[in-house]
Amino acid sequence: MVTYTLAFDIYGTLIDTSGVLDSLKKMIGKSAGIFMNTWRNKQLEYAFRRGLMDAYVDFSVCTKEALDYTCHDLDITLTQDQKLSLLQEYKTLPVFPDVSKGLELLQNTNHSMYAFSNGSYQAIKALLDNANIEQFFDGIVSVEDVKMFKPSPLVYQHFNTKTNSTKDTSWLISSNPFDAIGATSYGMKSIWVQRLPTSVFDPWGIHPTETITTITQLKDLLEKYE
Ligand code: LAC
Repeated sequence: MVTYTLAFDIYGTLIDTSGVLDSLKKMIGKSAGIFMNTWRNKQLEYAFRRGLMDAYVDFSVCTKEALDYTCHDLDITLTQDQKLSLLQEYKTLPVFPDVSKGLELLQNTNHSMYAFSNGSYQAIKALLDNANIEQFFDGIVSVEDVKMFKPSPLVYQHFNTKTNSTKDTSWLISSNPFDAIGATSYGMKSIWVQRLPTSVFDPWGIHPTETITTITQLKDLLEKYE
């Protein structure tokens, strides 16, 4: 039986970044949806650009700077307290409802499981603790070790080095198409978690190895490859 090393993306895959929506609705009403999407997209863009510029900062800095940008771009004023409260909430975002069950099912397999994220060790540990899912993981791998962001091949390489795994025996599990494409392009196997029926996978001609809609499907899917 083949055992695999599983790399779980965190933000958007296990942890729900739309957890800030309710607070945003209270603060700014009907602009909350566009605000949330602009904030998330800008946060990722900042990480991509910093990667290209070789100007790494902690991912929380990308989150904070993207929040400031979003206020300016949408011409929305948030007080310092409101911004601090949103950034605090980002540290305790909720887990998607299928995750605990899906990870629990995998516990009866011999696959090893890691959280693998652009976030710092400290940020990811706090999220997993808060969501009460830390016990399912063999460890956390953060890009902070290599001071680079996904989807640089350096970070997927680092995952393999750190977990003593190989491209052939590791899977990246992510709802973020850029992450699945990055891992596939590097040479890992990848699973795209299509969290919404309307989510679009980038039409680059680089496909994920598999697609699922919930983490609870993962155990049965991997059995096909054992
Ligand atoms: C992460 C971002 C990419 O957790 O969602 O790495």
